Amino acid sequence: MLIVFLGAPGAGKGTQAKTLATKKNLMHLATGDLLRAEVTAASELGLTAKAFMDRGDLVPDDVMIGMIQARLLSTGSGGVLLDGFPRTIRQAKALDQALTTTGMEIHRSIYFEVSEEELVRRLAGRSTCPNCQRAYHDSFNPPQRLDICDDCDEKLIRREDDRPEAVRNRLKVYETQTIPVLDHYRHAGKLVEVDGEQSINAVQSDLTNAVE
Ligand code: AP5
Ligand code: MG
Repeated sequence: MLIVFLGAPGAGKGTQAKTLATKKNLMHLATGDLLRAEVTAASELGLTAKAFMDRGDLVPDDVMIGMIQARLLSTGSGGVLLDGFPRTIRQAKALDQALTTTGMEIHRSIYFEVSEEELVRRLAGRSTCPNCQRAYHDSFNPPQRLDICDDCDEKLIRREDDRPEAVRNRLKVYETQTIPVLDHYRHAGKLVEVDGEQSINAVQSDLTNAVE
């Protein structure tokens, strides 16, 4: 089973993916998390990606397609939850192609619908665990102890790309480059829309129904 999560920056993809992947025993492949791990490791890929990410631009398609192809080929027969890929039409077509090679099929592409006003509120108050990448929010989803991850006791950080200028660019990039991907899956009859503006628990419950 392959599930694709689509939605704007701050829509709640990562928050929901961690719970759904555990519930359904899926491998959570989050391209943003994979890239941030490369940045932390100061690898060549990380150094290339960092400038794009900090500005809120997309990392070039060839890099991302190579990254996902390699991961999909090594997953075996288990289910996968893709969070943050594909984000361009070229990536979506490359994914279709890669799936014909692996024999996997997209079960559902789930679009998290959230207003821009709410996205800005969520990103402005987000803190993230640099170790497990779990996201918190100052008001909507605070950690039990101030600035400390509930799961791994790490000190939470603010993502560089959650600065207002980078958020503005990410939302623009999303409109121009990722919105067309919704139509790609709509035409394929795979797109399911979920109201991402509800509470975290209500969204999780809609998602669980959507993947049944
Ligand atoms: P990535 O890390 O994927 O960022 P993103 O898509 O911009 O999405 P976010 O992680 O910001 O948001 P999210 O939807 O996961 O929301 P979250 O659950 O954290 O990508 C980062 C960068 O990497 C890109 O800009 C690009 O440079 C590069 N990149 C990655 N993939 C790429 C690709 N395929 N191609 C090219 N470049 C790529 O929640 C947000 C906040 O809201 C949190 O504070 C959370 O607590 C809160 N929240 C969540 N749900 C709710 C709710 N229901 N109610 C209230 N608050 C909520
Ligand atoms: Mg995320």
